[in-house]
Amino acid sequence: MVKTGLMTWLLYSTLFAALLLNSDAANADERKVHIVYMGDRPKGDFSAKATHHSLLTSVLGRSSSAQESLVYSYGNFNAFAAKLTEEEVQKFSEMDGVVRVIPNHILKLHTTRSWDFLGLSQSNVGAQLQGDVVIGLLDTGIWPEHESFNDQGLGAPPSKWKGTCQGANFTCNNKIIGGRYYNSENWYYEGDLESPRDSEGHGTRTSSTAAGDRVPGASYYGLANGTARGGIPGARIAMYKVCWSFGCGAADILAAFDDAIADGVDIISVSLGSVFPVPYDVDPIAIGAFHAMKYGILTSSSAGNSGPWPYSVSNYAPWTLTVAASTIDRKFVAKAVLGNGQAFTGLSINSFELYRKTYPLIWGGDSANYSAGASQDLSKYCITGSMNSYKVEGKIVFCEVLWDGTGVLLANGMGTIMADDEITDFAFNYPLPATQISTSDGEKILDYIKTTENPIATILLGETLTDYMAPYVVSFSSRGPNPVAPDILKLDLTAPGVDILTAWSPIAPPSIDWEDPRSVDYNIISGTSMSCPHASGAAAYVKAAHPDWSPAAVKSALMTTATVVDPNKHEDLEFAYGSGQINPTQAI
Ligand SMILES: *[C@@H]1O[C@H](CO)[C@@H](O)[C@H](O)[C@H]1NC(C)=O
Ligand SMILES: *[C@@H]1O[C@H](CO)[C@@H](O)[C@H](O)[C@H]1NC(C)=O
Ligand SMILES: *[C@@H]1O[C@H](CO)[C@@H](O)[C@H](O)[C@H]1NC(C)=O
Repeated sequence: MVKTGLMTWLLYSTLFAALLLNSDAANADERKVHIVYMGDRPKGDFSAKATHHSLLTSVLGRSSSAQESLVYSYGNFNAFAAKLTEEEVQKFSEMDGVVRVIPNHILKLHTTRSWDFLGLSQSNVGAQLQGDVVIGLLDTGIWPEHESFNDQGLGAPPSKWKGTCQGANFTCNNKIIGGRYYNSENWYYEGDLESPRDSEGHGTRTSSTAAGDRVPGASYYGLANGTARGGIPGARIAMYKVCWSFGCGAADILAAFDDAIADGVDIISVSLGSVFPVPYDVDPIAIGAFHAMKYGILTSSSAGNSGPWPYSVSNYAPWTLTVAASTIDRKFVAKAVLGNGQAFTGLSINSFELYRKTYPLIWGGDSANYSAGASQDLSKYCITGSMNSYKVEGKIVFCEVLWDGTGVLLANGMGTIMADDEITDFAFNYPLPATQISTSDGEKILDYIKTTENPIATILLGETLTDYMAPYVVSFSSRGPNPVAPDILKLDLTAPGVDILTAWSPIAPPSIDWEDPRSVDYNIISGTSMSCPHASGAAAYVKAAHPDWSPAAVKSALMTTATVVDPNKHEDLEFAYGSGQINPTQAI
């Protein structure tokens, strides 16, 4: 096992080189952002800015060059980010006291699709105590006007709070008490907003899941209608926007940790990670979380959505809380009903109501757009661009693979029934009436199409079923072992992260079609990006009840009281669920 781990690591380290923002080796003189990491902040009087400036001057030769090159001087640990040539990188690497020179690189959000909604019943930690707890999130920003972030009933921020709210057109209140943003490469693409405001939706989801206020009557087109709320609705939120449409830069992530420590957050929630396993001293989350821990702050992080393969876990440093995603007792389904009365239940968060009206049903293979170069072999999967709109218009199309529905939608189809056995434990939402059935049911539908003169069908509005198997860890949730230290057990815990109702940015698409023009305030979504803030909320809940507990004590309380999940449902046992499902009320 150790050997496999090492080999995986070596492979990933090689691939990692390809991810660097600075991998253009051709131009050695060009200055690129690097992090020079030197460990703890020295004891006693220490001016980070002055120290880093003089170190830079000693290598770059001139004080003015040093000034130009410096991007961040981190103050709560000894490190800085600066634009350096390869020769300068070499000099710093050989310098006494330098642990690592880390090229700026891109980390990614841990979302396949997510959500939120919480299982904590009316909490017995008083609102006043909750209000003393601040959760800092490193994410895509937040939508400050969202109903989930109204501050009714909340007093002024706790006196320890030193954070701030920066950026145009972004206002904090007594719920969102901090908002900062970081973009060291100055890369802004279409849709990126230069403020802590969220255009992607991810940060709005994670924040509302951890600490959103109670909002009754929240739903996704009537589905999952109920009260949406965070794990600890009385807690405060501080947003550190480090992720943009290109991803999340390492130097920015460290800057956010540095500020969060100084601002006075209690818990840090990070639903993003490296794309490949890297050693702890190259991983900005591992480094940031390490120093946060020394200042008494626990970092809760997502395990990643690269499961079910072994060694797929991200954020595996021993001092972070690593969270898997598991199901709740609710499943989203939509029925396909044929003209002969046969009905098939499929997975889908179907927001479209056809009022049981039937439409002609065709097989995707019979509707290839030959002039677009498509054939029956492509159009039977209903791949985007492969469909002939003359054949598809106004019809329901049967497709032989799970797809996002845009193939049928763009050819003016009415709806789609997709047969696929790959994904069976969570549902997607689509831009048109759609459902995903098993391949064996698919054969029955194909048979009906072939043997019937005028085959017709309809797709019913989505509904929810009780899932008696819950909780179990979902297929996409990343698995241990720990890829760099296989003898240290990871993951730590699992928390709800499948088909969860969560706050949504009104300018983010409401289905898996990125061009879906509809706008919603709540959505239903899956991912470890969503289970992580559940655990962050639970950690904040413990911290509110026991302000003097160390990060290790909070983590221990959560792990030792976790509800044991059924090992028979998990081939990979603890590598899937760690110590079990969070149980916040037991933890306090
Ligand atoms: C501020 O943001 C809101 C929400 O996107 C937008 O409607 C408004 O026009 C913005 N105002 C300015 C001055 O940019
Ligand atoms: C949600 O439920 C509430 C209370 O039962 C009801 O008044 C409301 O109309 C429902 N909303 C939707 C969109 O179905
Ligand atoms: C076939 O594909 C071409 C190229 O994408 C497109 O322009 C055309 O409208 C399509 N034809 C039909 C009937 O869908």
